[in-house]
Amino acid sequence: MASSVLNGADNLKLMRGIAPTGSVFLGSNFHVKGLLKKNLVSYSQRTRTIAPKCSVSSSRPASQPRFIQHKKEAFWFYRFLSIVYDHVINPGHWTEDMRDDALEPADLNDRNLIVVDVGGGTGFTTLGIVKHVDAKNVTILDQSPHQLAKAKEKEPLKDCKIIEGDAEDLPFPTDYADRYVSAGSIEYWPDPQRGIKEAYRVLKIGGKACLIGPVYPTFWLSRFFADVWMLFPKEEEYIEWFEKAGFKDVQLKRIGPKWYRGVRRHGLIMGCSVTGVKPFSGDSPLQLGPKAEDVEKPVNPFVFFLRFILGALAATYYVFVPIYMWLKDQIVPKGRPI
Ligand SMILES: C[S@@+](CC[C@H](N)C(=O)[O-])C[C@H]1O[C@@H](n2cnc3c(N)ncnc32)[C@H](O)[C@@H]1O
Repeated sequence: MASSVLNGADNLKLMRGIAPTGSVFLGSNFHVKGLLKKNLVSYSQRTRTIAPKCSVSSSRPASQPRFIQHKKEAFWFYRFLSIVYDHVINPGHWTEDMRDDALEPADLNDRNLIVVDVGGGTGFTTLGIVKHVDAKNVTILDQSPHQLAKAKEKEPLKDCKIIEGDAEDLPFPTDYADRYVSAGSIEYWPDPQRGIKEAYRVLKIGGKACLIGPVYPTFWLSRFFADVWMLFPKEEEYIEWFEKAGFKDVQLKRIGPKWYRGVRRHGLIMGCSVTGVKPFSGDSPLQLGPKAEDVEKPVNPFVFFLRFILGALAATYYVFVPIYMWLKDQIVPKGRPI
């Protein structure tokens, strides 16, 4: 895994009262020193923040369409992508060493832990989970039967429970699991805050959520394609969603393919691992209104098709980014920035 550390996170530092050099402003209790070395950023509820003009998780403007950040579009996207997912997506964006690094803060320290892997897809992340936890205690949930069919074929996952479901409305009782894991799925959820609130609800008191997801690009072209395709949250948005859901001890660990040498300007489909601990039993203290997307509502097939094609085209850009970065890594002498 690459150690990207501070570049591209100035927003986060400023919001949290930290100078871009990593030094801490007086009065902040942001746990930075030492954590930065480990690529970890830690927050506490008492952190003094410089309040932004509006909430970072407020709706993005319509000028940022994000075509595949809808359940129906995501369903059809994975209808096709599931055929090649393990062979095309994972090698460029989500390698085994990244996965193991990202799961490390989840503290999978007991084989008897009850774990839910939400948006578990073809089971690539679940393969990392069952190294530490008995497969019979692990449930893989996904809205795509096509992705789950691939998970069912994997021998180490044969004892896992595999179910279809929605990350924003989980079919598990309150206070059910010891660990909630979700990797690379939040970007498709129309209402990410609702999904994280669900993570809180299904965990037992003291249970831990580990959400692995994209990070927003800073380079203009990458930002354009990211915004057309799906949700690439900013680091501070993850933190805000976790804290609002009620999680304590919220931490963010930066991850990335090692050949990127820490570059984050193009965004990353798997760019951080965010963890939080559930401090009290019961539901999340956060109250939300109705769901953002009503999947029962009929859609205009022409609009749907157009959105789908545009979203899929934008996604193609991100097939080439890791190849471009790999070529740069081959060409630029080691130890030099790329
Ligand atoms: C990039 S794949 C990640 C799969 C797997 N976690 C991994 O690490 O390889 C994203 C998955 O999220 C699923 N997904 C998208 N929206 C969802 C939702 N609302 N509820 C459940 N799963 C969802 C997709 O079907 C897809 O399988």
